[in-house]
Amino acid sequence: MINSTDTEWWRTAVIYQVYPRSFNDSDGDGTGDLAGITSRLDHLSSLGVDAVWLSPFYPSPQRDGGYDVANYRDVDPEFGTLNDFDGLVATAHGLGIRVIVDLVPNHCSSDHPLFQEALASAPGSAARAKFHFRVGQAGGETPPNDWQSMFGGPAWTRVVEADGSPGEWYLHLFDRSQPDWNWDNSAVRADFELTLRFWLDRHVDGFRVDVCDAMVKAEGLPNWPHLTKGVVSPIDGVMPPMWDQEGIHEIFREWREVLDSYSGTRMLCAEAWLQPERTARIVRPGEMNQAFNFAYLEQAWDAPAIRRTIETSLSANDAVGAPTTWVLSNHDVMRHASRYGYDTHVELESGVGAEDPQPDRALGLRRARAATALMLALPGSAYLYQGEELGMPEATDLPDGVRQDPVWERSGHLIRGRDGCRIPLPWTNEAASFGFSTSATTWLPMAGDLGSFSVEAQDGVAGSTLEFYRAALALRRSLGWGQLTWNESPDELIDFSRGGVRVIANVSSVARALPQGCEVLLASGPLEGGTLPGDTTVWVR
Ligand code: NOJ
Repeated sequence: MINSTDTEWWRTAVIYQVYPRSFNDSDGDGTGDLAGITSRLDHLSSLGVDAVWLSPFYPSPQRDGGYDVANYRDVDPEFGTLNDFDGLVATAHGLGIRVIVDLVPNHCSSDHPLFQEALASAPGSAARAKFHFRVGQAGGETPPNDWQSMFGGPAWTRVVEADGSPGEWYLHLFDRSQPDWNWDNSAVRADFELTLRFWLDRHVDGFRVDVCDAMVKAEGLPNWPHLTKGVVSPIDGVMPPMWDQEGIHEIFREWREVLDSYSGTRMLCAEAWLQPERTARIVRPGEMNQAFNFAYLEQAWDAPAIRRTIETSLSANDAVGAPTTWVLSNHDVMRHASRYGYDTHVELESGVGAEDPQPDRALGLRRARAATALMLALPGSAYLYQGEELGMPEATDLPDGVRQDPVWERSGHLIRGRDGCRIPLPWTNEAASFGFSTSATTWLPMAGDLGSFSVEAQDGVAGSTLEFYRAALALRRSLGWGQLTWNESPDELIDFSRGGVRVIANVSSVARALPQGCEVLLASGPLEGGTLPGDTTVWVR
């Protein structure tokens, strides 16, 4: 059962991201669903996580994997029913696992009834004011400004008015099927409050808030010719007019009041690709509880860079009294078991095709386990992405014809996108779809040797990645920890102590001596007599 007296549970929580399409399929249609998640919650319980975050399962045409929501207050029939959702929450809570759902407030799907109403209404109408409709430049012929969509191409699409004439343009920072809401509009704010209350009434423990740093745009929508990728920084001291505008904080404070009016502790986690100092402003008292640490995720396997990011993240969050979070993988980036298998720079969201250079899988997994052991020893909260506990690699050989990420089309087939980290999970060695579905056909294909990464193949097997994650999480929970202090170390090591526990990550290929007479509590890989091999992390005392 949930311990409801633990009001600050989110400060140290390990939160597991479920991507519903790919976790477990209960009805044999080749796509995962809520009942499928519920039936496998025992896996998360034996893994030892504190909470689960569900990526969107709301009614959606799935043009951007459900981050294009057509109805914020229901379940897409493909994923089940509201009853299935209630069953999931009750079962998770019974197992002591909290449930966080995804809130997508920057944009909706163009299928959303309010956007359809806006399209059918006249320019200047109240219906259009809920979005960003503008007259184009050059007599209406060209977009109102020069902003680019994050998925490629212009961030504006022109509509056809009721009389058949070419008309206004609407803003979409992502796909054209994802119109941005106008958060200066009070009806939009009121509608989202209803959405928050709808899920809070159904006992969710919080929300992960999608692209929350883009919700407010600079007044007048000034031109901005630069395209941002990854963590956003000011250019010549100016923040891009679509990111991290001051107005977002007032919205977060309003939401905090709504959440705090409910029993228990309901939390908010910000998805904002910002530098630690800017992210920390979102988790000031009275705003959100946590924010993803994407600056950490972006670091290559490089000790000085990782150490610097740990230091700046901790000091930025300490200054506002918020916990730092850590994350290595999610549904938007190449899985860390694969990206660390390259010694060259990796574009996190660009994907890999069968013809491209392939990662060194063994090296990638070894480093990934070392990175995970390091992350789980850091103070704060950690996010895991489904499949990383199995050491699952990125699917780097998907046929281009099956790709679903809108980036693939919008980039004119130049950028493959994020499907490689989204393929379904293998549960068994063989069987149709490795136990994910009773159907042999799944929404993204499951390739050849996936069974060797399955839960069945690793359960109870000493040294398997699954058993390593279970051991790390159990130990993390049982150790007293304490404040982090850095130990003197050569550049290639990350070496710190927390209370009686010392953590050493060897971020190089050369073995190092282990501290004399230490007791090894956890090792990310095999140790060779008294030494800490390269690309290995230990917790010792
Ligand atoms: C961030 C989500 O994680 C990503 O999957 C999505 O494409 C964009 N936001 C747009 O909603």
